[in-house]
Amino acid sequence: METLIATDQLILKPVELADLQDMYVLRTDPQVAQYIERDITKSLDDIRLFIEMVRKNKFYFTIKTINGNDFVGAITLWNIDWSKKYAELGYELLPQFQGKGLMSEAVKAMLDYAFTEAGFEYIEAYTHQENIPSKKLLERLGFKLVDDKIDEDNLDVVIYGINKTC
Ligand SMILES: CC(C)(COP(=O)(O)OP(=O)(O)OC[C@H]1O[C@@H](n2cnc3c(N)ncnc32)[C@H](O)[C@@H]1OP(=O)(O)O)[C@@H](O)C(=O)NCCC(=O)NCCS
Repeated sequence: METLIATDQLILKPVELADLQDMYVLRTDPQVAQYIERDITKSLDDIRLFIEMVRKNKFYFTIKTINGNDFVGAITLWNIDWSKKYAELGYELLPQFQGKGLMSEAVKAMLDYAFTEAGFEYIEAYTHQENIPSKKLLERLGFKLVDDKIDEDNLDVVIYGINKTC
C-alpha cells in the first residue's frame, strides 16, 4: 500500500504520472528554481522521465490541499544512505502557496514520518545561503547549521541537519 501522510491542511502522497501537468508547472517555474541547482526541464517528456525515476525511491511526495485537492508543491527524501539511516530533504512550493506556513506543516509531517515510520535517524537539508525563506523554515523546525561540512559542488550552499529524538 502506498504511503499517505495527512496533516491539518495537506495530504502528502507518492507522485504519480497523473501529476504530470502540475509537476511540469512546478519544475519550470523560474521563481521556484531560483536557488535550486538542477537540469532545466524542457518538456513534459522530461517530467515524465523524472516522475518515473523518483517513483523508484518511494519518498518523493506531492503536496495537495485536503480541501480542494489543489497541488501546492512537492517534498522528498533522497540521497539516501541506509547504512547511516540518512536522507537529504528537498522541498518546493508553487509561488502562490508560499508564505502561509504550508511547507512548515509538510516538513514537520515528513520528519515525523521519516523518524517514526521510515527508519531514518538523521536528515540533512542543503540550501542556498541566500534562500532566506528556506533557512527560516529549517531553523523554525529545529534544524541546526552543520558548520563543519561543505558542499564541494556548490560553495553557496549551507547545510542544516536534524537528528531523530526519542
Ligand atoms: C522554501 C519555501 C518552501 C519556503 O516556503 P514558505 O512559504 O516561506 O514556508 P512556510 O510554508 O513554512 O511558510 C512560512 C511563512 O508563512 C508564514 N506563516 C503564515 N501562517 C503560518 C503558520 N501557521 N505557520 C508557520 N508559518 C506561517 C510565516 O510567517 C512565514 O512567512 P515569513 O517568511 O514572511 O515570516 C519556498 O520559499 C519555496 O518553495 N521556494 C522555492 C523552492 C526552494 O527554494 N526550495 C528549497 C530548496 S533547498
